[in-house]
Amino acid sequence: MRVFTKKEEIQKHLRELKAKGQSIGFVPTMGALHQGHISLVQRSLEDNDVVVVSIFVNPTQFDNSEDLDKYPRTLERDTDLLSNVSADILVYAPTVQDIYENEVKSEHFSFGGLEFEMEGKFRAGHFDGVGTIVKRLFEIVEPDNAYFGEKDFQQLAIIKAMVKIHELPVNVVGCPIHRETNGLAMSSRNERLKPEYKKAAPFIYKTLKSAKKQFGTKSAKEVTEWVEKQFDKQEFLKLEYFTIADVETLKPVKRKSNKKKYRAFIAAYADDIRLIDNIALN
Ligand code: PAJ
Repeated sequence: MRVFTKKEEIQKHLRELKAKGQSIGFVPTMGALHQGHISLVQRSLEDNDVVVVSIFVNPTQFDNSEDLDKYPRTLERDTDLLSNVSADILVYAPTVQDIYENEVKSEHFSFGGLEFEMEGKFRAGHFDGVGTIVKRLFEIVEPDNAYFGEKDFQQLAIIKAMVKIHELPVNVVGCPIHRETNGLAMSSRNERLKPEYKKAAPFIYKTLKSAKKQFGTKSAKEVTEWVEKQFDKQEFLKLEYFTIADVETLKPVKRKSNKKKYRAFIAAYADDIRLIDNIALN
């Protein structure tokens, strides 16, 4: 397995492969890899000649410096895990300096309004940070296809919008949410859950599944009130938001229409750990 830390080196290597007509698949990550990440890598291996995985804890997308400090950094374990999937994967694990040089700062982006909903309301500057890093990584890797999880559905929508608005030459592929057998969406943050919170966390997906059932016959408002009541009874989970939104605009649904697709989104705290999840409703 080759691990690159300098953008010039991986860029040169990839340009040589591209010149031979090889297609490049790209999976951007912040490391602490789990089977959710691996499912993206596997999809990318199926679709492309060469697969690049970036591992970079991007400082500009954290609105909370403690969360950034506590974010797990496990490069050696990550490369071991990847080499068990395929020894041919190329890893790009840059330093902050390699990406940001002397200015660790986000660019400002407009994502057609998607950035003001849900996560955008609770994580100031987060999507500017995501846009900044993903655009830079696209410029370095120059992938044909890039893979993002529906686990972060709003992020996926924002990346698709960025590619369209900036006319970036990459095809963005959304991949399904990979879950633990108890339903909890896999996340690097799950590792940090204390036992009582880990036990409570599958309640998030269980509630999403019930919300989906109810959405067939009830209004979005009724379902939302029901979900909020369920969380009020939960000792170990604190609901930040539950929203039923139109998948195109990510705006909360006011009146249901058969012509539109909806998804339910949850963010909740388990202790000081913020968990997010979502489900397709129709
Ligand atoms: P990270 O949280 O490491 O996630 C990397 C990719 O893996 C994202 O596209 C995310 O949606 C996907 N992913 C995470 N958990 C998943 C799961 N359980 N099932 C399916 N896919 C899952 O998202 C980021 O990093 C960063 O914001 C990044 C895009 C790398 C920019 O810094």
